[in-house]
Amino acid sequence: MSIIERHPDHFLLKAGGASYVLHVVREKYLAHAHWGSPLRAWKGANAPRFTDRSFSPNPAGSTDRTFSLDTLRQEYPGSGRTDFRSPAFEVQFADGSTVVDLFFAGASVVPGKPSLEGLPSTHADQPGAVETLQVLLTDALSGLSVALSYSAFRDYPVVTRSVRFTNAGKQPVTLRRALSFSLDLEGEGYSWLQLSGAHIRERQVVERALTAGTVSVESRRGASSHQQNPFVAVLGPGADEDHGEVFGFNLAYSGNFVSLAEVDQFGITRVQSGINPFDFAWKLEPGESFQTPEGILAYSHQGLGALSRTFHRFYQDHLCRGPHVLRERPILINNWEATYFQFNQKKLEAIVDKARPLGIELFVLDDGWFGHRDNDKTSLGDWTVDPKKLPGGMGALADKVHAQGMKFGLWFEPEMVSQDSDLYRAHPDWCLHVEGRSRSTSRDQLVLDLSRPEVCSYIVDSVTKILDSGKIDYVKWDMNRHLTEVGSAGRGADRQRETAHRHLLGLYGVLEAITTQYPEILFESCSGGGGRFDPGMLYYMPQVWTSDNTDAVCRLEIQWGTSLAYPPVTMGGHVSAVPNHQVHRITPLETRADAAMVGNFGYELDPLRFTEEETLAVTRINAWYKAHRAVLQFGDFYRIKSPFDGVSAAWMTVSRDRSLAVLFYFQILARPNVGQVVLRVKGLDADKTYTVEGGGISVRCSGDELMGVGLRMPELLGDFQSLRLTLQS
Ligand code: DGJ
Repeated sequence: MSIIERHPDHFLLKAGGASYVLHVVREKYLAHAHWGSPLRAWKGANAPRFTDRSFSPNPAGSTDRTFSLDTLRQEYPGSGRTDFRSPAFEVQFADGSTVVDLFFAGASVVPGKPSLEGLPSTHADQPGAVETLQVLLTDALSGLSVALSYSAFRDYPVVTRSVRFTNAGKQPVTLRRALSFSLDLEGEGYSWLQLSGAHIRERQVVERALTAGTVSVESRRGASSHQQNPFVAVLGPGADEDHGEVFGFNLAYSGNFVSLAEVDQFGITRVQSGINPFDFAWKLEPGESFQTPEGILAYSHQGLGALSRTFHRFYQDHLCRGPHVLRERPILINNWEATYFQFNQKKLEAIVDKARPLGIELFVLDDGWFGHRDNDKTSLGDWTVDPKKLPGGMGALADKVHAQGMKFGLWFEPEMVSQDSDLYRAHPDWCLHVEGRSRSTSRDQLVLDLSRPEVCSYIVDSVTKILDSGKIDYVKWDMNRHLTEVGSAGRGADRQRETAHRHLLGLYGVLEAITTQYPEILFESCSGGGGRFDPGMLYYMPQVWTSDNTDAVCRLEIQWGTSLAYPPVTMGGHVSAVPNHQVHRITPLETRADAAMVGNFGYELDPLRFTEEETLAVTRINAWYKAHRAVLQFGDFYRIKSPFDGVSAAWMTVSRDRSLAVLFYFQILARPNVGQVVLRVKGLDADKTYTVEGGGISVRCSGDELMGVGLRMPELLGDFQSLRLTLQS
């Protein structure tokens, strides 16, 4: 059965459990008819009815006063031709004009999904898992052509979209805006959800009603950023965690983006996302093309929870790549918060010697091993081992770690350069900068200009040299500042505004080269924690350091928010020391562990300081985690109680066959003399009987009782307490 149906005047995409319909109006305008509930067929029940609307002009002139693009739900709207709403694209021709008439010029359906040149994108290796509709729109006067791609996935309520512009004319054309998709939703009472925050406070859930006007989230920082995330959701009236229609949107891009919704005068909600038009322009000489990043559209009729689970499985199956995606992730220990820059081989070996018997499987050497980096002011770019700290070189340390039966991982920050570095002294023009202007630093570093191929080659060569110097099993790829003075010595004035996007393309090229050359290395992306938690980075690296904030209480919110869009297995959670280094809070070890077990688990502290009691507790925690990590990393994630709404939180993970579940309950603050907490468990098999154990509870109940009636939590004494329960059928 085909996923995409072609009809004389419309296309019906049947993506597992959802449908998308686009149709051609008046033989030339590509209009939108439906995205959401599954349809067997579309006969035009909601086909547009044209009426004469004041102040909505008519492209056909006085021959038809009823037709205006201002009132039509469109697939890829432009500007200057009667639609006054947010355009999906803007171009400027050699004569300075900006008016375009993009008319339908044909369509084809191909099996599978072509990859996007130079960009991360979703994929499907299984035959029949995806089909792609390509619709061609052309502007006869200029020769500009725009190919819209729609890939519909057989097993997921997901459609992905992207756009390719080609200048088939005789004059250059400049793209000033080139978003990845535009979607005109009909209906009332929508609300909007975004994930916003800051460094060490990433992805806080922010919701608001959508009313007339525009709401947008965007990054102008050169990275998707801690401050905003490209993921947004539009919730239908009354939708919540478990009920109602929800439309989720994300963008496979790690740089400047915009995601927006505009509610127009007639209540149509236009949702768009793509490269941020801020500081962007792209010149297309005759014959040249421009490919936008890919937008990912998912649908749920069972609330946000089901939407998240769709994204989780979809990203595991169709976005992340490489042999590690489905492999269990090791328990790691990272020396950053234990030593910062002050370490030597002896100290590291002592940590490794202590860590192994605790059950820790991977030792990660963080920042400070190269150049003469004893602080954050120096040496980025000089990827050679500091012999003062590691006299035997990287190979010797890696061997020592492996001899202990552990894996070895290493930190890099390859996109940056310190002014105090041999690299900068040799190539002062290799950073982003504008000639004649000073260079702003952040954390005392500058950003290498990855829009230049020679800079990318340098990064690939210097990183691979280290990766070849010893047995390295894991890489943490960090990025610790945002982009300023975005200019490049590598190209002329007419192409300077291409720099930010070319920089991203350069980064993607570097990541493609390195991650495919070393498929056995587990790569983790990081940008001061979760500053680049986006589908673009997940394509190259299947996990992310969720946040530099390791406080258990802050992590409840950060991880809850992150789980809306990203699979738990992609989130790194680590137990760190108390008082916590970011917020100085003191929380019990068990609570820190329970919070960190949300995905792939580890430590960020000095085990040499453990008391006897802590040594025993950590050994016990690791053994428990290993016994349950298959379900924690690859099960279905259910959010139960939001840390944003009160003083407690809960979530759970259920194995795919629903025979085992793990429930975490957190009492953030104790309150006197309040009602008892009964949690309605989710995702179980109603007909199975489960043995529930943990925190003094030991009962046997059926799934329907646990889900319908709920489970009474025991009384927890004190702030920052947690409970970990297993439910086994
Ligand atoms: C920021 C990262 O998020 C930290 O975990 C650590 O790797 C530091 N950079 C090192 O400079």
